[in-house]
Amino acid sequence: DFEKMNITKIKKSKNNKKLTVITAYDALFAKLFEEIADMILVGDSLNMSFAGKPDTLSATLEQMIYHTNAVCTGAPKSFVIMDMPFGTYINKDEALKNCIEVYRLTNAAAVKIEGGEDRADIIKHLTSNSIAVMGHIGLMPQYVRSEGGYKVRGKTHQDENQLIEDAIAVEKAGAFSIVVEGVMSNVAKKITEVVNIPVIGIGAGNVTDGQVLVWSDMLGFFEEFKPKFVRHYLNGASLVKDAVNQYRNDVQNSSFPSREEEY
Ligand code: KIV
Ligand code: NA
Repeated sequence: DFEKMNITKIKKSKNNKKLTVITAYDALFAKLFEEIADMILVGDSLNMSFAGKPDTLSATLEQMIYHTNAVCTGAPKSFVIMDMPFGTYINKDEALKNCIEVYRLTNAAAVKIEGGEDRADIIKHLTSNSIAVMGHIGLMPQYVRSEGGYKVRGKTHQDENQLIEDAIAVEKAGAFSIVVEGVMSNVAKKITEVVNIPVIGIGAGNVTDGQVLVWSDMLGFFEEFKPKFVRHYLNGASLVKDAVNQYRNDVQNSSFPSREEEY
């Protein structure tokens, strides 16, 4: 019962259907998620999980476009969102120029931009030029160096008010949906109630209009540590290591390849 998503269906799902969002960085995995997830996000988290960097900041537009093309090719039926990497939307003109480039070079349905009130004018400029924008507020990984770390948001009354202002500003600027990351669940609930566009949570409790997880986190491929908000649906790392160990054993004792696997 899969149906391809579009902006109208996504907006209509508010108060109607919970949205399931997963990241993907390549065609192989995108194909696996294609008819299951409502949206696929090509997250700049790939700079950490796949490029092994300490944060998302060094991802480039070219790299994001390369991965987005792979995802769109592998999952042509999916609604694919591309993360605009750090430094590619520093002002209205740069942002629009770069988003037009993304639309020209990929089949991405939308882009995602981190920022609240501080970036509302940029989001407005994009949406008024026919770019579909997903917002991203709360804990914003592209702010890690300027904030001095990753901090859960919404713990003070002042921060709660700021987050609500951010959500309203992003909605007013024309975003079709907002990711709310690393926010106290009671505050995420208020944000979800105050805006009329779907709020997609990550580390923000279960009251939001949907959830997003990084695929390699939820499938257990990242072993170093498990953030509190991640649920492991597969022990990916141990399954892979067991399989590769078996392969090595078979190579060492010459049981691979067998006669049936020979020419
Ligand atoms: O880069 C990413 O994967 C993201 C999600 C965690 C929302 O931005
Ligand atoms: Na991201």
